[in-house]
Amino acid sequence: MGDTIAIEAEGLHLGYAGSTETVRVLSGVDLVVRKGEFLTILGPSGCGKSTFLRAVADLLPPVGGRLTVLGKTASDARRRREVAFVFQEATLLPWRTVRQNVELPLQVGKKSISRSVDSKPSHWLDLVGLSDLGSRYPHQLSGGQRQRVAIARALQCEPDILLMDEPFGALDEITRDRLNDELLAIWHRTGTTILFVTHSITEAIYLGGRVLVLAANPGRVQALIDLMPMKDDNGFCRRESPEVQETATHLRQLLRDGGA
Ligand SMILES: Nc1ncnc2c1ncn2[C@@H]1O[C@H](COP(=O)(O)OP(=O)(O)OP(=O)(O)O)[C@@H](O)[C@H]1O
Ligand SMILES: [Mg+2]
Repeated sequence: MGDTIAIEAEGLHLGYAGSTETVRVLSGVDLVVRKGEFLTILGPSGCGKSTFLRAVADLLPPVGGRLTVLGKTASDARRRREVAFVFQEATLLPWRTVRQNVELPLQVGKKSISRSVDSKPSHWLDLVGLSDLGSRYPHQLSGGQRQRVAIARALQCEPDILLMDEPFGALDEITRDRLNDELLAIWHRTGTTILFVTHSITEAIYLGGRVLVLAANPGRVQALIDLMPMKDDNGFCRRESPEVQETATHLRQLLRDGGA
């Protein structure tokens, strides 16, 4: 039973230690994320979405409660190089080509021995649709292409858990929709557990098997909504369908209530 769980939080408290006191961000978080799950996270600005991802990535120690990542502490999971992070802004090195950037172990952790049959960067560039651009430099790419390089780099270490913090926030809607489809296809192929923060209600519904709604002041879990009933076998749904529209209305109301 335990080995089907990717992330488990019990009464988790997160915050930042200041010079005089600790700033509390999230309190009393109870959450179980199953292996292979695609969890999207919504919530008002400043409620603690990035903070939660940071804790899972072992970039921030819990203030209280319990957090286990793949059955161990977040730092053990990081040491075993099982978690990768894609930040809001693609953090590529400008003096290295696309291919060289994908090779870089810039993730939170990188497996020293890849489990992949084909671990070459070209394989991962192909997966994100960039196989022709491997020898370009970051400044020769569009924002969306740069973000895809960052995703290829994260996928390259075959993480068990992929943390994505508003990765498509700066993109136009058409490009974002296309990358959403690519990401869903990759998720379906790799079975990676994905935690994906977004401000877009539509994106949260379209990508997630469940959506976690966080509230602010104090930061806490407000709702956890199952989206699987509206998905087909490959995890896809139609953005225009009545169920999606209804869920969007519901989520919009929750976000309004939780922003106060
Ligand atoms: N290093 C830090 N030290 C102290 N407080 C911090 C630090 N980083 C973030 N905070 C505070 O913690 C709270 C949660 O921040 P966090 O970045 O997790 O919000 P968020 O939900 O990701 O917001 P957004 O949607 O704007 O990205 C905010 O009130 C923020 O000001
Ligand atoms: Mg954030």
